[in-house]
Amino acid sequence: MPSAMNDIARAAQLLHAGELVAFPTETVYGLGADAHNPIALEKIFAAKGRPADHPLIVHLPDASHLGDWAIDIPAAAHTLAAACWPGPLTLILKRHPSVPDLVTGGQNTVGVRVPNHPVALALLREFGSGIAAPSANKFGRISPTTAAHVKEELGESLETSVAMILDGGACAVGIESTIVDMTSATPRILRPGAISANTLRQLLHAPVHDSHAAQQTDNAMHIPRVSGSLAAHYAPRTSLQLCAVESLPAAIAAALQQGQRVAVLAPELSPPLLANQHVIRRIASADFSQFAHDLYATLREFDAADCDLILVTTPPDNEAWRAVNDRLHRAATGSGNK
Ligand code: TXA
Ligand code: MG
Repeated sequence: MPSAMNDIARAAQLLHAGELVAFPTETVYGLGADAHNPIALEKIFAAKGRPADHPLIVHLPDASHLGDWAIDIPAAAHTLAAACWPGPLTLILKRHPSVPDLVTGGQNTVGVRVPNHPVALALLREFGSGIAAPSANKFGRISPTTAAHVKEELGESLETSVAMILDGGACAVGIESTIVDMTSATPRILRPGAISANTLRQLLHAPVHDSHAAQQTDNAMHIPRVSGSLAAHYAPRTSLQLCAVESLPAAIAAALQQGQRVAVLAPELSPPLLANQHVIRRIASADFSQFAHDLYATLREFDAADCDLILVTTPPDNEAWRAVNDRLHRAATGSGNK
């Protein structure tokens, strides 16, 4: 149910009072706090169980606020902001000195974006400044794409630390924003998303590094600049395996033989084994946007169905599917911690 205007006004008041408000964006739901209020920001880390050195994205009402949060903004960043905002693109820029360390994780950069969702934009305009918001899930888990998922994720925190959840329906994009680091001469994608490296290259008429893969180390000695860059992230509780379409029948058969209940996310074709009563099946869309839109909700559904194994057929390995493949590989690595 879309949030009414008086909900927006109340949410903005709560944020001004240092409370947390969960709100919808076009990508995933965020858990928001006044980005200038360190006491409010502390509550985000407590509610999520997130380490304090993981920086937060600041959400802005529009690009005219950029100068309050960042300095030395390159022309290319203005170009991308003008072309992609409101939209699923986060720009990493040199931080303004007034940005709290809790937002930046103590780094000299800040992540900013203008989300493309009517409820988020109404809230940001009413609030009138930056709202820091990570995805509204527990650290390392699947991002919520409906208000009900937020409740599920932050259940225990709801009475104590989250003052309000704004309901804006299901998120249109369904996976987190593309993050691009604009602080060096050639922009670099730190997290792939719906806006691809090629789109950014076309907008800038210039090269963009797509080398986030090089940063996928999950080394305990290494302080991650992007929490989404940890190899085990975005994970369902049920063990998840990727497999080629050709190997699916054998993989299902093997699991059934071990007495397992299996959840399968695969394209339309239907090996006979899918009819087994111990197999739950959802059709994987052949369209990238639809697949991304459905992905987290489907993984949640599988988790709730109490299966022993999730099998997902590997999507095409090309630029368009980059962000989805990224999330699936991390989900496979991090899954199985019931
Ligand atoms: O789509 C999204 O971006 C969603 C919605 C709510 O806007 N937000 C989101 O936030 O995914 P979160 O905190 O779950 O992921 C933000 C990522 C983290 O991996 C964080 O490390 C990275 O952005 N990040 C934030 N500020 C950064 C900075 N200054 N330098 C490098 N990475 C940064
Ligand atoms: Mg997140």
